[in-house]
Amino acid sequence: MSEKSSDYRSIAVMGAGNLGSAIAVALSKDYDVIAVRRDVSKISWLEEHGVAVTSDNVEATNRADAIIICVKPKDTIPVLSEIKDVLRGKPVISFAAAVKLEEIARYCHRPVRAMTNIASQFGDSMVVYYSLFEDDGIHALLSALGRVRKVDREEIVDVSTVFLGSAPAFVSLLIQAFEYAGIKCGLNAELSKEMAASAFASTSKLMESMSPDEIIEKIATPAGTTIEGLVKMKELKVEYSIIESLMAAVEKLKKM
Ligand SMILES: NC(=O)c1ccc[n+]([C@@H]2O[C@H](COP(=O)([O-])OP(=O)(O)OC[C@H]3O[C@@H](n4cnc5c(N)ncnc54)[C@H](OP(=O)(O)O)[C@@H]3O)[C@@H](O)[C@H]2O)c1
Repeated sequence: MSEKSSDYRSIAVMGAGNLGSAIAVALSKDYDVIAVRRDVSKISWLEEHGVAVTSDNVEATNRADAIIICVKPKDTIPVLSEIKDVLRGKPVISFAAAVKLEEIARYCHRPVRAMTNIASQFGDSMVVYYSLFEDDGIHALLSALGRVRKVDREEIVDVSTVFLGSAPAFVSLLIQAFEYAGIKCGLNAELSKEMAASAFASTSKLMESMSPDEIIEKIATPAGTTIEGLVKMKELKVEYSIIESLMAAVEKLKKM
């Protein structure tokens, strides 16, 4: 059960693809969920989680008391046009990248813009959202996906597309680099991947109570192996490469 249960009971998820299916599974633990995509055969597996499926956005809207939009940005306005006459004041939470609140507001009275990532399936993502109205029910609903922060500027949701939405892809690449280095040293691939993933998870845990500097000081003994690796990382401008890569993603987002 998420941190506080919401007044909303039936949730429609329009666009049950990669993100929408993850969200539908997470919500299915606490809510009645109806998931929509045109090729409904691709989401029959959601029924094992108690999620109802349909290819009809209007039917789903009629059956729900809150709507989640997870179609691609280009499909967002067509879906909103399709359901606008049956919304009857229900809130619409859009996870579509780069589709502005102002645009969504042309089709519904209670628009919300949100961002998360596919780890929301396990209630283990972070969620940021922006809306111009207060509604504890929305906050409680989103808490089924992970830790929730309401933000006071829409631009924060925009850049979160990179820092939350895409982030597992970037981190996966880094974990893979650790894995390859382990394999190069003779570890088998499975063990190397397990160690790499566990190192990232352990570091996240440590960062709940320590700063990066404190962690480094506790691990890097003078003239030891850790400082050797850290100095090489500085020499290779690893941090700069990562910052530049994330900024390239932000630049692309601005052009969307
Ligand atoms: N993937 C991520 O990790 C991630 C992270 C953060 C944000 N997002 C955002 O989430 C949205 C979805 O991304 P995604 O990667 O999950 O895309 P996706 O896998 O392509 O899912 C979108 C789904 O929408 C369905 N769809 C298209 N038109 C529809 C319509 N008219 N009515 C109902 N369903 C329709 C498609 O299925 P059919 O063709 O069968 O209808 C498809 O399965 C995007 O706006 C993206 O910016 C994604």
